[in-house]
Amino acid sequence: FPERPLEGCHALVTAGPTHEPIDPVRVIANRSSGKQGFAIAAALARLGARVTLVSGPVSLATPPGVARVDVETAREMLDACLAALPAEIAVCVAAVADWRVESEAAGKIKKDADGPPVLRLVENPDILATLARPGPQRPRLVIGFAAETDHLLEHAAAKRVRKGADWLVANSVGAGSGVFGGDTNAVTLLTATGTDSWPALPKDEVAGRLAARIASALSGALS
Ligand code: C5P
Repeated sequence: FPERPLEGCHALVTAGPTHEPIDPVRVIANRSSGKQGFAIAAALARLGARVTLVSGPVSLATPPGVARVDVETAREMLDACLAALPAEIAVCVAAVADWRVESEAAGKIKKDADGPPVLRLVENPDILATLARPGPQRPRLVIGFAAETDHLLEHAAAKRVRKGADWLVANSVGAGSGVFGGDTNAVTLLTATGTDSWPALPKDEVAGRLAARIASALSGALS
């Protein structure tokens, strides 16, 4: 097994939350820390891949050997991903906001007699589904994540197919799981041919295992 089996491969990784502006000072956000995505970017780089890490707002250092592109919104994240293609590998770990406010207020929304504002939301683009769409630019291996609170494997299996991903990494984020912002993660890897459940592991180790699995899939047939 070569030490840098991904030498010559370009890997695109998304990580962190997105921030969707409400007005110049307020955003819709989520609790993603970016830790798992950053760990995956680092692990792929250690195996020799050229890594582009498209990151939402997080407070994490860029891993060695990784080219980082910082973005705020889902639409910026999509644009940065498309600009980074071609890539052999895409790992979408970012917790992309499903919705954004239809039109960002130009000035800070004031508290006034009309009462609280009503925000109209519109759907954001799905970056994973876009990258997974068949076409000449489609990475050979497209991997998604699914954080679910219930019916984990059922929902994850359906999501893998619906989004067109080759693999889906499912993790349970129910109350008390400590996954968000924590350092460990218990995941199940779903492929077209089966599932593989890993014990609770440090996020770095989940990343290392996933990167090794990616390297062996790309050296043989995708499985
Ligand atoms: O639908 P859900 O958000 O649970 O799907 C999770 C997977 O889809 C993750 O891999 C996430 O990065 C990706 N995703 C995306 N763009 C979105 C929503 C989710 O890339 N707008």
